Amino acid sequence: MLEINNLTVEAENKTILNNFNLKINDGEIHVLMGPNGTGKSTICKAILKHPDYKVTGKMTYHDQDLLAMDTTSIARLGFFYLNQNPVEIEGITNAEMLRNALSEKNDERVDIFKFNKKLNEVCDIINLPKSFVHRDINYNMSGGEKKKNELLQLFILEPKFIILDEIDSGLDVDALKTVGKALQEYYERYKPSILIVTHHQAILKYFNDYTVHVLKDGKIKATGDKSLATKIENLGFEANTINGTTEYE
Ligand SMILES: Nc1ncnc2c1ncn2[C@@H]1O[C@H](COP(=O)(O)OP(=O)(O)O)[C@@H](O)[C@H]1O
Ligand SMILES: [Mg+2]
Repeated sequence: MLEINNLTVEAENKTILNNFNLKINDGEIHVLMGPNGTGKSTICKAILKHPDYKVTGKMTYHDQDLLAMDTTSIARLGFFYLNQNPVEIEGITNAEMLRNALSEKNDERVDIFKFNKKLNEVCDIINLPKSFVHRDINYNMSGGEKKKNELLQLFILEPKFIILDEIDSGLDVDALKTVGKALQEYYERYKPSILIVTHHQAILKYFNDYTVHVLKDGKIKATGDKSLATKIENLGFEANTINGTTEYE
């Protein structure tokens, strides 16, 4: 279980998140929505201890203190972060990186036969040409291809806690369906915890049950079931002021 209590996140002397609280049990799916620039990506990166951010408060995973750990150690616990804008790395292929990452993760040499078989299976699931495994990581790929390429990493590394920052942005309708189904299959197979940042319900229909949080002004202002996502999509974040109080407070 991930437990975040009274977290403050700062960058360049500016407080981005303040008194941020979130609890995600094993196997649960949580959705974070909120206007642009409210700190959704910031919390994703803070969980992984991105060096840009000064983080104070409490953040634990299965009672281990994440604030005392570095990014590599957190990844070793089974965390996976899909960046809103996946980074291009020229000169290292997907296959090379994944073989090394897998060997590091499992502390043993990778069986190349099994590894190649799995890569082929995953390329089929996410509808990515097999040649992509030999391409440099995200290099010269379109926005949609990058998102799928990151999913290739997800399926190979089999993380237990997945953070998906706007995985649905930049996807065409077919790619959205492929990605949604792939995530649904991953969830059914491995039952990870997932934190999904999104502006739309389209990606959420691939999941049965999830909790929705609204982030505004650096804090979670409302928490609810899937009907909250529908309400936001229909009414917006600002639209529903009733008698001077917004529904999200
Ligand atoms: N590394 C950083 N340095 C300075 N400011 C940052 C940094 N990261 C985010 N911010 C600022 O924090 C706010 C929240 O950003 P972000 O988390 O990317 O928003 P969201 O993902 O909700 O759109 C923005 O005003 C952004 O400019
Ligand atoms: Mg963002």
